[in-house]
Amino acid sequence: MDVEKILTQLTLEEKILLLSGKDNWHTHDISRLKIPKVKCSDGPNGVRGSKGFNGVPAACFPCGTALASTFNKSLLTEAGKLMGLEAKHKSAHIILGPTCNMQRGPLGGRGFESFSEDPYLSGMSSSAVINGIQHEHIAATIKHYVCNDLEHERKASDSILSERNLREIYLEPFRLAVKYSSPRCFMTSYTKVNGDRASQSKKLLNDILRGEWGWNGLIMSDWHGLYTSETALKNGLDLEMPGPTYYRSVNAIKHMVESRELNIQFLDERVRNVLNLVNFTLDSGIIADGPEDTDNDTQETSALLRKLSAESIVLLKNEDKILPLAKYEKIAVIGPNAKTGIFSGGGSAFLRPYHVTTSYDGISSKLSNPPEYTVGCYSFKQLPSLANQLTNPFTGKVGYNMKFFLNPPGKANRRQFDELNLDQAYIFLQDYRHSGLNSDLYYIDIEGDFAPQESAEYSFGCTVLGTALLYVDDKLVVDNKHDQKKGNSFFNSGSTEKRNSIFLKKGKSYRVKVEFGSRPTFSAPDATVVDFGGGGGIAFGCAKVIDPQEEIKHAASISKQVDKVVLCIGLSNEWETEGSDRDNMDLPLLTNQLVEAVLKANPNTVIVNQSGTPVEFPWLDKSKCLVQSWYGGNEAGHAIADVLFGDYNPSGRLSLTFPLTLVDNPTFLNFKTERGRVLYGEDIFMGYRYYEKMKKAVSFPFGHGLSYTSFEYSKLLVEIDEENDELNVCVSVENTGSCDGDEVIQLYTSHKNPKTIKPCQELKGYEKVSIKAGESARVEIHLSLKDSLSFFDEYFGKWSLEAGEYEFRVGKSSGDIRLTQLANITKGKLWLGL
Ligand code: BGC
Repeated sequence: MDVEKILTQLTLEEKILLLSGKDNWHTHDISRLKIPKVKCSDGPNGVRGSKGFNGVPAACFPCGTALASTFNKSLLTEAGKLMGLEAKHKSAHIILGPTCNMQRGPLGGRGFESFSEDPYLSGMSSSAVINGIQHEHIAATIKHYVCNDLEHERKASDSILSERNLREIYLEPFRLAVKYSSPRCFMTSYTKVNGDRASQSKKLLNDILRGEWGWNGLIMSDWHGLYTSETALKNGLDLEMPGPTYYRSVNAIKHMVESRELNIQFLDERVRNVLNLVNFTLDSGIIADGPEDTDNDTQETSALLRKLSAESIVLLKNEDKILPLAKYEKIAVIGPNAKTGIFSGGGSAFLRPYHVTTSYDGISSKLSNPPEYTVGCYSFKQLPSLANQLTNPFTGKVGYNMKFFLNPPGKANRRQFDELNLDQAYIFLQDYRHSGLNSDLYYIDIEGDFAPQESAEYSFGCTVLGTALLYVDDKLVVDNKHDQKKGNSFFNSGSTEKRNSIFLKKGKSYRVKVEFGSRPTFSAPDATVVDFGGGGGIAFGCAKVIDPQEEIKHAASISKQVDKVVLCIGLSNEWETEGSDRDNMDLPLLTNQLVEAVLKANPNTVIVNQSGTPVEFPWLDKSKCLVQSWYGGNEAGHAIADVLFGDYNPSGRLSLTFPLTLVDNPTFLNFKTERGRVLYGEDIFMGYRYYEKMKKAVSFPFGHGLSYTSFEYSKLLVEIDEENDELNVCVSVENTGSCDGDEVIQLYTSHKNPKTIKPCQELKGYEKVSIKAGESARVEIHLSLKDSLSFFDEYFGKWSLEAGEYEFRVGKSSGDIRLTQLANITKGKLWLGL
């Protein structure tokens, strides 16, 4: 496409059209000039495609904090390539990821999506993923620029922070991503930054991103994250998403241009950026409105996802060499996360995975006899979905049947207009469309058969944006139609869960029927919450009623009878999700009681925690072995088993600090939007920068992670070339243990006598190397000197590399520095840009 020529051929109306979405996921096409529409798809841990309801399954990658914990740039580029390939199978030209915000504090609802508390690790992980995605000619969208670091009132929140903090911590990963990968797209954040809306900020969009950093891609708004018409157009926001537009109607913008309120030059600049993006994506070979398929669900895809997941797992503690497990040992697998597929956090990052592997499945696949199991305690907020506990009475497959009607149950001659057979847990009908419908009001009868595993009391539940009555064999069990209460479901617009229980007998099959009325039937809508429109949604679940204390006793008694216990605990997409932050850093419900009881019964317990961000481990001193396994995507269960049995020697390193308790964290006083603003009171002392400065003990420091082998470091050499802005660090590493393994060499820099307050040390380089048992490797790290030693000097409004003495610290984690060397910088300098 000859962009400049097309610019001269477009009418004013056509130009305006190009500056906003056509629908939820597409840009506009101008067929007269053969400009195709292009398609976006979420997101950071997989490419979902365009359908929320009844979507096409996709590869689910480990979450952001997991990917960064691999500390492996080339592997993350492979991950990016696979994301690019997935995008092709979903006919998407643009991936809405990676997410590159910061984990200011442990409670952020989207903390799992982003990479790290450290700007360098975050920026390098982003670059690696973007390079992979764009290698496939798919455009990456780094998001959310900038300071979208909490969910509470995210659209109404103003992040108040110092210029130094903004530059050194929050903008830095974006700067590094521009420097090392040049993402084709940026997505702005919902928030304000120091009173200035990110999506229309001259300073952020025009002066820093396009000016100082010299970047020339496309900037889009977050979904409904644009708040003005003229200012955003002038200051650099190219594309309003999604469509139809709120702020860029042809009439309004035409009026502004014709009355010379808006100079046409601004419009042309924005259109040029859109056309350049379209041009870039043409090389992907993806056609507009192409199919969404699952053909990439191959052995190669699973193998890479398994490797990514295994490499991200961090062995936090392994006293008495409890791990790796031996196949001859008698093992019990216990815990709420053992048989639940925990693969992703919640919100726009969530997708329907090709398949799910649980820890129990993974462990069982390594053993000739299935291990003993009990749940130990529940950890869900809402009852686990019934979808995979039902059999569709019409197809005989797992799942349920849905019949769609124009009129409610009980009416004579009901008019059915659609029928589907599904197995999805969460039915969100926002994007459900049917030619037989001309309003959002309709009714669905859902049916499936439930065969209880035991004779017991079973609890059933329904959560709706709409209304629902749930029957078991024609007996009304749950009524979420009358006396409805507003809850947090369906992005804060739906009801609370209503539950009720019923005694069921093993050996019998029960017909579960849900009569659902769509969104207009909902009687507790909240006028202050965004109305998504559409048909609303329903989630329905079921769990056997247990006596919590008896179940913990039962778990302890099983634990006594085995050599070792694998105790699977943690959070899930219910606890960590877009739209809300966590209330505390606790493990859910009775988890800690269960852990204490199991540890007492059998000290040889391997605790496997799944969470995207830190949790408190109050029993840490009593445990010998702890593994952090994040949200591991499709292959989570297999990857956990690979690490536990030593088929993969763990090499993950923590991408964020695990503080001892919530109150220890630097954002404890300021992790909430109050009166419209959130104060970044900890300034640059976030994450390990704070714990180290304050000499605070933590559960596990940033960068920590153990291996089944051991490594020794020697012969550190630091070379500085001030003229050419080069810093070269070399170190010898020997694998002194008895098995092959991967080591992550981490480089931290520290200014010895700074005149301005600075962190004790900062990560500025890392490399991962594979070394065979008994062998050594010489590891070289090449870096930009100014990037590695500068701080942002607010007085000059520039980065400052100060002359003076610096320490170069090489180690296994921020808390385990093995070698140091001093070196002098003779000439200071001020700089801006990349
Ligand atoms: C999220 C974005 C996402 C978009 C589209 C927004 O709510 O903040 O990260 O890409 O929705 O799903």
